[in-house]
Amino acid sequence: MLDNIKALQQEIENATASTPDEVEMLRIKYISKKGSISQLFSDFKNVPNDQKKEVGKALNDLKTSALDKINMLREGFLSKESESGETDVTRPGEPLKAGTRHPLSLVKNEIIRIFGRLGFTVAEGPEIEDDWHVFSALNFPPEHPARDMQDTFFISRNPDVLLRTHTSSVQIRVMERSQPPIRAIFPGRVFRNEAISARSHCIFHQVEGLYVDENVSFADLKQTLLYFARDLFGENTRIRLRPSYFPFTEPSAEMDVSCSICGGKGCNVCKYSGWLEILGCGMVDPNVLEACSIDSKKYTGFAFGMGIERIAMLRYGIRDIRHFFENDLRFLKQFESTL
Ligand code: DAH
Repeated sequence: MLDNIKALQQEIENATASTPDEVEMLRIKYISKKGSISQLFSDFKNVPNDQKKEVGKALNDLKTSALDKINMLREGFLSKESESGETDVTRPGEPLKAGTRHPLSLVKNEIIRIFGRLGFTVAEGPEIEDDWHVFSALNFPPEHPARDMQDTFFISRNPDVLLRTHTSSVQIRVMERSQPPIRAIFPGRVFRNEAISARSHCIFHQVEGLYVDENVSFADLKQTLLYFARDLFGENTRIRLRPSYFPFTEPSAEMDVSCSICGGKGCNVCKYSGWLEILGCGMVDPNVLEACSIDSKKYTGFAFGMGIERIAMLRYGIRDIRHFFENDLRFLKQFESTL
């Protein structure tokens, strides 16, 4: 055995390699699992006890010098490449991991795409707003509870500087600077002084829609929303409009879609009702048009507003709204660009 070890030691010492592939061949030949050194290690059990100490040491030395030799040969190639100053442009690059889009962006983009096909353009407005655009021009009476400190974040002692509580403020911004026909949607971030829980957050996102022209009717609103719901939740989706109240629309409604999870049969997501509420809508109140100097005798319009988080939660079966804002990669990585 000792003789074998010595012979192998000699052989490895004399070994040369002219390419990196040859170094790899040497590694496989001597030190891989099936290589000759490993073979000697497995024969070690047959060595008589009185020789074990000596043979064991020789074997370990052999292994160390083989590893050193292979590393030395390998490094020779690495440094040769850099010494020559030439870069091997055919060498594969380091793979760059592409990130994934945030689920809220995926849903927002999907909503933009659907309304885009109906001719709606996209506009945005400021997050820091004034009372006029968030409340007064939208026909909120002065004593309306939504203006209350409880709901609205004011960012200075001046009660006229606040964070918008809804994207309806962008309706006013757009109508103030343009005359009908107006057909646009307004995605954006909104703020409300609410306790953070699985169902509500103090920061969330909405998409607002506005269509103002001559002869715009409630039937137009309903058909637009039906088209939208079917594109987003599937072609068998049904919608239901329930009468509601918003200061800026008359009449107003809330829209439910048939539950996309159970198909309307009833499940724990729709609380066994078969319906999911997804947005508020209505015909733009003439007072709102007039506040923006649009002739309410000549023009009518509809508006709607929805929460992006809520739609994303329904779409992906997400149970807790806080996941959207924690930036936990284990959560975010689940959303490849499937939308
Ligand atoms: N702004 C409302 C909210 O934040 C949502 C809404 C309801 C918007 C009805 C509209 C609408 O445009 O017509 O709760």
